[in-house]
Amino acid sequence: MHDISRRSFLFGLAATPIALTAGCALGQSNPVGVSGAARRLPIPPLATATVDASGTRHFTLRAGVGTAEIVAGKSTPTWGFNGSILGPTIRARRGEQVSFTVDNTLPEPTTVHWHGMHVPARFDGGPHQSIEPGARWQPAWTVNQPGATLWYHPHPHGSTEKHVYRGLAGLFLVDDEVTDSADLPKTYGVDDIPLIIQDKRFTADGSLDESDSTDVGLLGDTLVTNGIAGAYLPVTTQRVRLRILNGSSGRMYNLGFSDDRQFHLVATDGGLLAAPVALTRIRVSPGERVEIVVAVAAGASALLRTHPFEDRAGLPAGDAAGFGVADSFDVLELRQGRSPDASPAIPASLAALDPVDPSGAAAERDFELRWFMINNTRMDMNRIDFSATVDTTEIWTVRNVDNWPHNFHVHDAQFRIVDIDGASPPPELAGWKDTVYTPPGQRIRLALRFTEHTDPTIPYMYHCHLLMHEDQGMMGQFLVVEPGQRPAPPATAPTGGGHGGHSG
Ligand code: C2O
Ligand code: CU
Ligand code: CU
Repeated sequence: MHDISRRSFLFGLAATPIALTAGCALGQSNPVGVSGAARRLPIPPLATATVDASGTRHFTLRAGVGTAEIVAGKSTPTWGFNGSILGPTIRARRGEQVSFTVDNTLPEPTTVHWHGMHVPARFDGGPHQSIEPGARWQPAWTVNQPGATLWYHPHPHGSTEKHVYRGLAGLFLVDDEVTDSADLPKTYGVDDIPLIIQDKRFTADGSLDESDSTDVGLLGDTLVTNGIAGAYLPVTTQRVRLRILNGSSGRMYNLGFSDDRQFHLVATDGGLLAAPVALTRIRVSPGERVEIVVAVAAGASALLRTHPFEDRAGLPAGDAAGFGVADSFDVLELRQGRSPDASPAIPASLAALDPVDPSGAAAERDFELRWFMINNTRMDMNRIDFSATVDTTEIWTVRNVDNWPHNFHVHDAQFRIVDIDGASPPPELAGWKDTVYTPPGQRIRLALRFTEHTDPTIPYMYHCHLLMHEDQGMMGQFLVVEPGQRPAPPATAPTGGGHGGHSG
């Protein structure tokens, strides 16, 4: 029954009800060919930085408009950081102080959120840190978390999907001694390859088509990697590491190779796994990252593809087509040279991960996901949903009680999955995560610990990372406070500027 009301709700937003069938129409009958692709995968440049006398590494980001050739021969108006589309890859070490100058030259307010980063709330870049057109924002913090593939993207409440879809997204790599010493391919752009996967749709004049929304938001019919459609990657080493980000609005990927060859998963959202996991498929929902290592024989090629989900991603049979989970697209062709350089063998182990211990939790919280709502309520910039006490363990039980796909993302901390329907998580979900796919009916328990940064006024977010759902209010806010500290949320929102004065 709630199906009908929410669909008519969407029809109110979207130009045409045809959107709901777009997923089938785009589907596997017509995969987009990458084989024979003529364009080389662009590698986002590493961001240049200056290091001052105190050792602070300073970066500059400028969000602006531009024009990009996403599809060969077509000119598309886009948004980007320091360029027309996407942004430079930011790279910093654990223990390093980083600072940013972020300029907004867009015609709209935006924000820059550091997805996956442990960061003070006032510098998190969520909806409370709005940067007005022409304004500047200057966050700074000390990087203090395991080496990982994180990312940055806008987070203005109600407009996140469009800002990301228009091209605003980039990677943020954290290095530490553990990632340094892991015996993995690690030369950026050579055998350690960033791969931002997105889906887009175009109007006849080549503009991005933002007109139709499905139940999972904008679903594209064109697969785009690092900003272009139909890319190949020249490979020069026996193995390559792909740092994959699902930067799409609502599309989930079931990644694997066209010949079903094995690859090794080595890292998830928050860092390295305990040991590589041999797989032939890996599921990546919006916002999630996976790092894989794959071998390509001399003179051969390998085709990375997203396959139809064998299990419809756990979605009910009647609805799955409209969510895009039956679709298949070629993602990237890896073309090996005649005499590849040697690569390290797949290591037996990677990182020491503490066992997950849910006992002694200071708080247990429940999160029910259903129709743009968490616990039957939609986002309110003026409502703090709860406060967590710093340096205590919390257990969060997340349940998708809907028949739609959702996922669940938490700011500021990486979490571990305690269990899924009472069973230990599979190895690919056993490492550090900040975003997890939540199929209908499943009960997923997370162990979290918020450390170091407290603020009685400025909240962090938790939300569904299907960006249209997030924009529609499938999001809540929490504070991290000192033991006994009274929350003092601001009297009015939005609090612009990112320095949120204390009002309590
Ligand atoms: Cu990737 Cu709250 O965001
Ligand atoms: Cu985030
Ligand atoms: Cu959702």
